[in-house]
Amino acid sequence: MSSSRQALIAGNWKMNGGLAANRTLTEAIVSGLNGSSCDVALCVPSPYLAQMQALANGTRLQVGAQDVSPHASGAFTGEVSADMLRDFGVRFAIVGHSERRQYHGETDAVVATKAQRALAAGITPLVCVGETLAEREAGDTEHVVKRQLAAVIHTNGHCISEIVVAYEPVWAIGTGKTATPEQAQQVHALLRAQLKAASPHADRIRIVYGGSMNAANAAQLLAQPDIDGGLIGGASLKAADFLTIVNAAV
Ligand code: 13P
Repeated sequence: MSSSRQALIAGNWKMNGGLAANRTLTEAIVSGLNGSSCDVALCVPSPYLAQMQALANGTRLQVGAQDVSPHASGAFTGEVSADMLRDFGVRFAIVGHSERRQYHGETDAVVATKAQRALAAGITPLVCVGETLAEREAGDTEHVVKRQLAAVIHTNGHCISEIVVAYEPVWAIGTGKTATPEQAQQVHALLRAQLKAASPHADRIRIVYGGSMNAANAAQLLAQPDIDGGLIGGASLKAADFLTIVNAAV
């Protein structure tokens, strides 16, 4: 982490939760936030945004969504627009998560448009990039992550100073296999250089790591100069583990 950037720890609940469980988990997280100063967000399934807005009200916790429509409004059954998310106090929206790229066919261009919609609504897109295991083993990591980020830079121009980038190696997501701090830092530095070439404000853009980040490995990852926080899946469903990660980011 660099002292010039405020760390961000965001939980991604994915398709987990329920009204009662959400309340218990969120209240436990909120009650443990006092000692920390970093930004903390929970990205929850859309039906729970109203609940999360109420639970986060008056606390340091910020509300996040897991996706946003690339369209502004209209006949797009099942889609949720950026303006609708904003109505529920959403501050962050994940775009381009590898699970959406893989299972829902999201292309780099669609992801870039989603980021654009979020930005236009005053929501910070958490733009996910990351290579698969096959791509890493073929030596394609740099090419893949730069291609994914380039689409977002191309579509959003100078507005990219308002995004957060999440490096999430696909082979590390939900597998218990974490990138080593050195592996992660290496990719973060590449992404930082790419952002610098595109924006005079790149030094303030946060690049967070995601992929089996947990209570045991967070401190080492967060100690890297270009790792500005975490996007946490499984460990965000356990208050104690999530809080340990938050406290490692202070
Ligand atoms: P895990 O922390 O469960 O590996 O998930 C990471 C992730 O995909 C966050 O968006």
